[in-house]
Amino acid sequence: MTLLSERTESGNLGVSAKGQTVQLLGWVQRRRDHGGVIFVDLRDRSGMVQVVFHPDMSADGFAAAEKLRNEFVVAVTGAVRQRPAGQENPNLSTGQIEIVATALHILNGAKTPPFYIQDQLDVDETLRLKHRYLDLRRPEMAKVFQKRHRVTQLIRNFLDAQGFLEIETPMLGLSSPEGARDYLVPSRVHPGEFYALPQSPQIFKQLLMVAGMEKYFQIARCFRDEDLRADRQPEFTQLDIEMSFMEMEDILPLVEALLAAIFAELGGKPLTTPFPRLTYREARERYGSDKPDTRFGLELIDVSDVVADAGFKVFADAVAKGGQVKGINAKGAQGMPRSEIDDLGKYALGFKAKGLAWIVVAEDGLRSPIVKFMTEEKQQALLARMGAETGDILFFVADKEDVVANTLGNVRLELARRLNLIPEGQLNFLWLTEFPLLEYDEEERRYTAIHHMFTAPMDEDVELLKSDPLAVRAKAYDIILNGYELGGGSIRIHRREIQEQMFHMIGLSPTEVEERFGYILEAFDYGTPPHGGIALGLDRLVMLLTGRDNIRDVIAFPKTQSASCLLTRAPSPVVVEQLKELSLKIELPPVKKS
Ligand code: AMO
Ligand code: AMP
Repeated sequence: MTLLSERTESGNLGVSAKGQTVQLLGWVQRRRDHGGVIFVDLRDRSGMVQVVFHPDMSADGFAAAEKLRNEFVVAVTGAVRQRPAGQENPNLSTGQIEIVATALHILNGAKTPPFYIQDQLDVDETLRLKHRYLDLRRPEMAKVFQKRHRVTQLIRNFLDAQGFLEIETPMLGLSSPEGARDYLVPSRVHPGEFYALPQSPQIFKQLLMVAGMEKYFQIARCFRDEDLRADRQPEFTQLDIEMSFMEMEDILPLVEALLAAIFAELGGKPLTTPFPRLTYREARERYGSDKPDTRFGLELIDVSDVVADAGFKVFADAVAKGGQVKGINAKGAQGMPRSEIDDLGKYALGFKAKGLAWIVVAEDGLRSPIVKFMTEEKQQALLARMGAETGDILFFVADKEDVVANTLGNVRLELARRLNLIPEGQLNFLWLTEFPLLEYDEEERRYTAIHHMFTAPMDEDVELLKSDPLAVRAKAYDIILNGYELGGGSIRIHRREIQEQMFHMIGLSPTEVEERFGYILEAFDYGTPPHGGIALGLDRLVMLLTGRDNIRDVIAFPKTQSASCLLTRAPSPVVVEQLKELSLKIELPPVKKS
């Protein structure tokens, strides 16, 4: 049997197969009756082709053709022929030809689907997810998954050629107190005890280095019970890499070469390597973000020194209290209506800012709620610092450093969207380096690791661990693409005493360390090589490679924002017997009255 997919993928259905008899298997996209002749668009995952049924084919065959409805599954035998002049369809890759049917078998019927199987679909995503198997029949979805397949094949071949071993690590693991919330799996054999699904294979991949595997990779499923967003799913896939006897300068070029191969072959875009690098501090200062989108400007400009004594109390107070005042120059944006400026102000309040001050630099002078507090001279100094010209709008936030960065970082993105500053089709990769090792969690009153607790401090900063922990930089790196965190990794701690110190820093008691991580410390005693690695978010990579902005589009059976599967209706209650077997009792919190 000849599959439609084989024919069209090799491209020979268009030309060389003319006159040839083929058998096609697929789904009816639609049927049109044209006065005694029936046209059917036949679809499979590779594309579409037109089939023509004439009444003289065979009485049975034609009668069957008359019964065809959308999504019927059929086997058609027929001859390939050039379409009559004027009847070609330039929108179809097979639009030059058609199949003149000689036989038809209906392999299965189909109910009318709840939505048309077509691209540019205007139906609620809920309906698409409920009938995901139909949604995936749509050509654009088929293309996404063909590409995703190609990406994983390329990754495997690329890393195999570099001497990497693909090794699987357990799904049922030990719960750990750090990171996101775990998904837990109760143990039947050990009543009252739980496994945790892996948030990443971090510990196992390091143990594989202790085990002398040297170069490991895995296309690993990870689970995190965290707040979901357009680029976050509760279960997702990482490309996980770990290497021994390597430094950052070995790992980064390897990842660049891999991404360059992926984008050249599957994205049709040659990438320029090496990718630019930014330090964490520079990224925060210039973009207010640790995953800056550098496809457009709108950089943050520090005006603290200019406004410290400028007469506007809000600004002066912020600086006096050790905070800062920064601004963004929205070049030529003066056409922005007042209502939109106010909208942005409200948007800014969502990031804990107390306000968003603004100055419109108009032909007839400055329009602004704040310039009246400043002398002419100060106004000019502020405009000069901001590089302001007629037609610009300047936005300012005064607050603590982190509030300023977070607010203006987000205002920057929102401005770029509203002002249409984001160029289509551009790929801005960059490495972020020199992350701080630790941050201070005000709520929990303790330090936490910014990457994770196995990340090594920079050699020159180790001494600061005791005296100034927040100043210690980590041997960590993130890879950013167009404002998305595509991956992150680090050189790991491979000496027991530094790992112990790290556990201590993040507030783990020796008993907790022994219970949770004793086996790692023990492993480190048996000759652990220096090692490091990275994990790339595979879903995010495919999302960006296919030009999508929703991670659900590149996962075959994704979960909704509230972590449910609309198709299978997971999660669900279970029968009492199952709970009993697991020694579990359910106690639901009282239902809140709204
Ligand atoms: P990290 O936690 O940064 O590092 O994760 C690595 C990458 O995985 C992707 N990612 C996600 N994608 C979709 N949904 C999610 N919920 C989600 N969470 C993370 C991101 C991210 O950059 N063990 C370390 C890696 C290492 O140090 O080698 C780790 O997991 O693209
Ligand atoms: P007010 O004097 O409180 O009416 O504020 C004047 C302008 O300053 C308004 O546009 C406010 O949004 C803005 N503003 C107030 N607080 C801040 C702040 N911390 N940072 C930036 N702008 C602010």
